[in-house]
Amino acid sequence: MIDIHAHFFPRITREEAAAADPRAPWLADTGDGRGQIMLGEAPFRPVQQSLWDGRTRLAWMDEKGVAIQLVCATPVMFGYAWAPARAAAWAARMNDLALDYCAADPARLKALAQVPLQDIDAACRELERAKSIGHLGVQIGNHVGEKSLDDPGILDFLRHCADLAMPVLVHPWDMMGDARMKKWMLPWLVAMPAETQLGMLSLVLSGAFERLPKTLAIVFAHGGGSFAWLIGRVDNAWAHRDIVRADCPRLPSSYCERMMVDSAVFDPGALRHLVGTMGAERVLFGTDAPFPLGEQSPGSLVAATYAEDAGQRERILSGNARRVFGLG
Ligand code: CO
Repeated sequence: MIDIHAHFFPRITREEAAAADPRAPWLADTGDGRGQIMLGEAPFRPVQQSLWDGRTRLAWMDEKGVAIQLVCATPVMFGYAWAPARAAAWAARMNDLALDYCAADPARLKALAQVPLQDIDAACRELERAKSIGHLGVQIGNHVGEKSLDDPGILDFLRHCADLAMPVLVHPWDMMGDARMKKWMLPWLVAMPAETQLGMLSLVLSGAFERLPKTLAIVFAHGGGSFAWLIGRVDNAWAHRDIVRADCPRLPSSYCERMMVDSAVFDPGALRHLVGTMGAERVLFGTDAPFPLGEQSPGSLVAATYAEDAGQRERILSGNARRVFGLG
């Protein structure tokens, strides 16, 4: 199995974080295999050693049967709201630390870079540097403040990704509706899927895919969030309201062939619908490891959903990732 959606968070000290930006996260490592991601003095999330130690992750991969894993920043590391120069220096440091993490076994642990997406020139420069030092692709958030993926600068960045043959993983972050989502992880359960859908629809309905190169490989996390369930509603709106058609010349669902998603939907019926909507060659196995909201028994959903279809299992669990990320 090749897992294209997994996270790391390096051992950043409080001092290093404070020097980078007052909002930078850091790791309080209690030394017993557990830790806490901190924001200033406030605990953000309890975490475990596989998040910062590549050897621990490899042991987990061995236990779970994951051959290769692509790791990327935990989204709290993005820093999109910081001053661009600070975010650029931070991204470079995090990308170097990502490769340190992967050094535990560079053949099995691969990194996706982060970039200072609030500064497109700096983001393109860091993308180039990351590729030159061995990153396999790049992870970005689904928006930068008020700018969604159809922002002209972000489209320039995506073109640059296509030019460099760097696949893009879009991960939701900086979630909407905060005032009404204070409890029960609602930002993760409601807002993240909506953010991902918003990112996908901003590309579709803006007509961006008419201008982006077809070589752009863009993958959306969490099965594309709410997108696949509601694309019928979008097609209907496109057919019956001219303002929905204004910038999008073709039926919205026809652009599914330009996007990919991971398989992290946790329900066989949902996975079948996702594969039916996006196409079996555009669904890539992703666990969201090592977090509790990820698939705890990697591959079990795909195996259960396609118990009778070895071809489908192979495509989703490894074949698509090999093709998209050039993994031989
Ligand atoms: Co994730």
